[in-house]
Amino acid sequence: MNEKMIIQAKSVKKTYNTGKVIVPALRGLDLNVRQGEMVAIMGASGCGKTTLLNTLSGLDEIDEGVIEIDGRDLAQMKDKERTAYRAANMGFVFQFYNLLPVLTAVENVEMPLLLDDSRKIKAKEARQMAHAALAAVGLAEQADQRPAELSGGQRQRVTIARALVNNPAIVWADEPTGDLDSVTSQEIIELMRRLNQENGQTFVIVTHSLEIGEQCDRIIWMKDGQIVAEPQHVPANGKVNGQTNGQTNGQSNGRYREPILQPNSEPELIFVAN
Ligand SMILES: Nc1ncnc2c1ncn2[C@@H]1O[C@H](COP(=O)(O)OP(=O)(O)OP(=O)(O)O)[C@@H](O)[C@H]1O
Ligand SMILES: [Mg+2]
Repeated sequence: MNEKMIIQAKSVKKTYNTGKVIVPALRGLDLNVRQGEMVAIMGASGCGKTTLLNTLSGLDEIDEGVIEIDGRDLAQMKDKERTAYRAANMGFVFQFYNLLPVLTAVENVEMPLLLDDSRKIKAKEARQMAHAALAAVGLAEQADQRPAELSGGQRQRVTIARALVNNPAIVWADEPTGDLDSVTSQEIIELMRRLNQENGQTFVIVTHSLEIGEQCDRIIWMKDGQIVAEPQHVPANGKVNGQTNGQTNGQSNGRYREPILQPNSEPELIFVAN
């Protein structure tokens, strides 16, 4: 694997201040990801995973620390430059980053190309690239269908095609399989793995599923706004059994079960060996 670090984060701090509450979401976080690596970010609900993705990708600002993407500090860029950098170099697969319902699959996929002012891609070329991206995710036949006419897994594949259409160096995915059954989840992760291996793109995937995490090159564990070493009590076979815990939050597509939090309780991962 390439030894070049494409993502470097040092002492990153981010606090949300709603006026009523102050939430330290990232508390001095360090992270390095190599080019072409496929990493999973895991940890209890509220530990800061989405905040981390949003700040690494420059969608959101940090309070302290430095983030460099391919050696460049996005915080130092002007808004327009940062937006253009993101459009050219990053793809986003966010669960709630919805497809536009009035547009067909191919129209949704070509959208980032048409919005990318810097490259001035002609409509005809954009359409061809969008068709190629849909074919790459196995949806050549569904190009003219609208999101409502597609299954959940197909919709998520359209989102992936849209994230990949401009061949970005980094793809950010926030719970890309969160809404999907386990068979479809597995198809989606295999698709991302294949694209990662064929194109050498870097994937950063937030997931609650240990099964998904185990198929990545590395799992980055978070707790309370920081990266932590893999919990010692994860069994060597990676199997996690939620039964003794009893209560789960109903995550259905993985072996990791997250405890239901009691009010005022600290979020904590619970692993139980088989
Ligand atoms: N816009 C916001 N304003 C205030 N607090 C926020 C905001 N967004 C997130 N938070 C808080 O920051 C912390 C981290 O949230 P974040 O969304 O990053 O967690 P997460 O790990 O992605 O959780 P989940 O697994 O549930 O998606 C939480 O305590 C959350 O309540
Ligand atoms: Mg989240």
